Amino acid sequence: MLKVESLNTYYGQAHILSDVDLEVNAGEVVVLLGRNGAGKSTTLKSIIGLVRAASGTITFAGKRIERAAPHQIARLGLGYVPEERRIFTELTVMENLEVGRQAPRPGAPTWDFEKIGALFPNLREMPDRPGGRMSGGEQQMLTIARTLMGNPACILLDEPSEGVAPVIVDQMAEAVLGLKRAGVAILLSEQNLHFATQVADRAYIIEKGRMRFSGSMQELAADEQVRAQYLAV
Ligand SMILES: Nc1ncnc2c1ncn2[C@@H]1O[C@H](COP(=O)(O)OP(=O)(O)O)[C@@H](O)[C@H]1O
Ligand SMILES: [Mg+2]
Repeated sequence: MLKVESLNTYYGQAHILSDVDLEVNAGEVVVLLGRNGAGKSTTLKSIIGLVRAASGTITFAGKRIERAAPHQIARLGLGYVPEERRIFTELTVMENLEVGRQAPRPGAPTWDFEKIGALFPNLREMPDRPGGRMSGGEQQMLTIARTLMGNPACILLDEPSEGVAPVIVDQMAEAVLGLKRAGVAILLSEQNLHFATQVADRAYIIEKGRMRFSGSMQELAADEQVRAQYLAV
């Protein structure tokens, strides 16, 4: 579904990503783990076209996208939820969702308020609540929900559990598993190994812009040295 090969990204003169390879297959939840500053957000931004890749190839749904603009990539069915929540604080939950609505897409699930509500029960309870009067976790859910209204085949989630209350983190994990069941492929970045273990099938670990580990969650759980070297604070 999504394949990144030998991706190199710079900010000015600074070489941030070095020969990054990663792959997300249909139906999979894949987590990109790494410490603060490792290059997780830059990887996702490079995939979605917010940051231009200097070299390497990115293939999504059979099309090369490394030179495409973010809106073109979104239209192919690749959704993106940035680290910072992007909701309209003046608009209600329903209105925020309407803003994200796109035409149904062949081969991807179609979302409406009812299906969104089954995934995020909190949002179902507050259709008329202005975005600005929601908790941080609820805003994070609304940001994901609005991206889903575009009916993506795959979504990139940048640290969905960051800065979110523990009870909401558990709901977020349930929602990610619900998305997987619905047939949306997911690539998420995380520092929270516990959250990642709850939701992911496979993991990559990035450090200083290089991939240091690729394997199943079971392999990662068994590899104490890798976890200590690249994940422990
Ligand atoms: N806009 C930017 N300009 C210059 N350097 C940046 C910019 N954004 C991030 N960086 C640097 O790139 C590296 C990777 O950052 P980032 O991808 O945000 O890491 P992560 O998401 O894993 O915390 C860090 O060293 C960070 O300081
Ligand atoms: Mg980041």
